[in-house]
Amino acid sequence: MIVVRGGRPLSGRVRISGAKNAVLPAIVASLLTDEPLILKRVPRLLDVETQLALIEALGKRVEREGDVITIRGEAGVATAPREIVSRMRASFLCLGPLLARLGEAHVPLPGGCVIGARPVDLHLAGLARLGADIRVDEGVVHAAGALHGGEVWLRYPSVGATEQLLLAGATIPEEVEIVNPAREPEVMDLVRLLVAMGAEVKALEDRFIVRGGRLGEAEHAVIPDRIEAGTYLLAGTITGGEAELADVHPEHLTALLAKLEECGAEVEVSGDRVRAAAPRGWRGIEVETAPYPGFPTDLQPQLTAFLSLARGRSIIWERVFESRFGHVGELIRMGARITLQGQAIAVEGVEELRGTEVAATDIRAGAALVLAGVAARGVTRIRGVEHLRRGYENMEEKLARLGAKVWVEEASVT
Ligand code: EPZ
Repeated sequence: MIVVRGGRPLSGRVRISGAKNAVLPAIVASLLTDEPLILKRVPRLLDVETQLALIEALGKRVEREGDVITIRGEAGVATAPREIVSRMRASFLCLGPLLARLGEAHVPLPGGCVIGARPVDLHLAGLARLGADIRVDEGVVHAAGALHGGEVWLRYPSVGATEQLLLAGATIPEEVEIVNPAREPEVMDLVRLLVAMGAEVKALEDRFIVRGGRLGEAEHAVIPDRIEAGTYLLAGTITGGEAELADVHPEHLTALLAKLEECGAEVEVSGDRVRAAAPRGWRGIEVETAPYPGFPTDLQPQLTAFLSLARGRSIIWERVFESRFGHVGELIRMGARITLQGQAIAVEGVEELRGTEVAATDIRAGAALVLAGVAARGVTRIRGVEHLRRGYENMEEKLARLGAKVWVEEASVT
């Protein structure tokens, strides 16, 4: 478990890694060509290892040198291993590319997780509109047929469904129109990569128009991780201290920076650096998660921890996932005053949090508990480190750069 001794203001600078949610679809894009794909700024994360294991199981060869990976070879296997897909939803993105390249694909349904049911109906309906013959049998999606151009309307701007259709569309020599697509920076980074591989993608006001065909080699540096960035900004401010980030795209953090200013924290942006500080405390605010450029759901748990020490009351609406309050019970155990009201929580700010033993239920809930731990009086022990390792590279080291007292301890099995 991760152990944190909290209770003192943090201060320091952290360099942000490449974005997990940009590198995962980029790795799948390698299935679209037999030529080499070089990805740069690839973070060392469990989820990245899982995605690399997936494409290796499908026939690709991977070389890694530092934060650069080179992917070569031909994907000749149409069946994705259940063991990998069940470990991580983002591996479901291989469905469209395998079907496009091999004329068939067999991919287990990813299933739900603690933050929601997370169906893939939009992925399947979208591919079916492009000509795929889709059949689900015993939890496995079987897809066959030749894909063709067409228009797909998304009833919700799903990140995953947009990426699935972009990846499939990039192989089709006719126009594919994705109406109401997601526009998260990670989605736009995939667009950048597909264009570098030879596809045409026009991002219009209400749709993406994709025309693809035979894709070739490319070299691509993924964008910095805006969720990791937001997490460290909140790590600094939750202690009444400050944090400075290097190597970020400040424009990807607009929603968070606006909310920090709204609650009275200081924010400075210069070039690819962002600094936030809250030396005089902060006040309660209202927040609603939404698709980009709205407030990111992946920063909601961390912001909840921060607002549990605000002056006054905050209301937080979680609009993207139906059950993303797994961190609330654990924060209450640390002394937070939070009440659940359907898709919202009411947070009454308290003077202080107290360290105790808590458990992370997912990546971002884990990050929220680490933040609560650096602010809390005493020592906090956080079980479920594997969740953090899925989404945060060198977390202890980066927290130590901010002056945090943090270490890893063997957890006794209870
Ligand atoms: C991506 O998940 C991210 N994961 C998530 O980050 C992030 O929380 C989410 O986008 C929203 O920003 C990766 O990029 C690997 P969605 P994804 O499809 O693609 C519903 C993290 O912590 N929906 O936009 O699964 C769905 O149930 C992770 O890094 C359907 O109903 O998100 C959810 O309520 C957690 N049918 C909503 O849309 C579908 O076919 C948003 O899901 C697809 C989605």
